[in-house]
Amino acid sequence: MDFPRSRGWDGLRCAPAAPKLGVNPCKRFSLNIEVSNEKSGDELKIHQVTEQTFLSAPHTDHTEQFIVDALRGAGALTISQVAKADGEIIGHVAISPVTLSGGTTGWFGLGPITVLPEFQGLGIGSKLMRSSLATLEAMGASGCVVLGDPGYYSRFGFTVVDGLVFPGVPPEYFQALSFSGEFPKGEVSYHEAFSTKG
Ligand SMILES: CC(C)(COP(=O)(O)OP(=O)(O)OC[C@H]1O[C@@H](n2cnc3c(N)ncnc32)[C@H](O)[C@@H]1OP(=O)(O)O)[C@@H](O)C(=O)NCCC(=O)NCCS
Repeated sequence: MDFPRSRGWDGLRCAPAAPKLGVNPCKRFSLNIEVSNEKSGDELKIHQVTEQTFLSAPHTDHTEQFIVDALRGAGALTISQVAKADGEIIGHVAISPVTLSGGTTGWFGLGPITVLPEFQGLGIGSKLMRSSLATLEAMGASGCVVLGDPGYYSRFGFTVVDGLVFPGVPPEYFQALSFSGEFPKGEVSYHEAFSTKG
């Protein structure tokens, strides 16, 4: 079962940045943000950050933390990167393989991506996007798809592609980024871990 069919298409839709939750702006200014690959021992904190971030997000059934766990358990967490502020994990991005109906291989899906609400709007999500996509390209991937707010993801080169579809989703919310300049056609399915409910 794929992700949006089970969750409704808006289950992956990006929410506008949440209100800031009482972090001293002076302190935020001095934050040292680093993005790195997940390390052994990060799993619980990633679960907690994902859970906390989506608690305040609309259009979700709050299962994203279980999806990340399930992807990892299935060996399908191709890229798992964390953002750390002064050494503490405060954001995360997952990239996993997708299947194309036409048989094209080498394509992946980005998400979930999370930044704790009190750290949103500081460019940390952008750092996670750029870092994970650069890693994916360096691995030799053909491209990446994403389901979410077109205004946010187009900042990173994602674009709506004619003929590359995610059934049941308004076309403008499903975008792709090709590393080779070529785009496949057909229907895209996410990993079965996206149907995990907890
Ligand atoms: C989406 C998310 C990861 C972005 O992280 P972030 O650190 O706030 O992003 P950045 O600081 O790099 O970028 C902020 C910019 O993106 C915009 N933005 C953030 N979320 C957006 C969205 N859903 N749609 C459109 N624009 C968005 C902000 O308005 C801001 O714009 P500005 O640069 O013009 O001020 C974060 O908001 C989040 O965790 N949201 C809740 C979980 C979620 O919905 N994840 C995506 C679906 S899996």
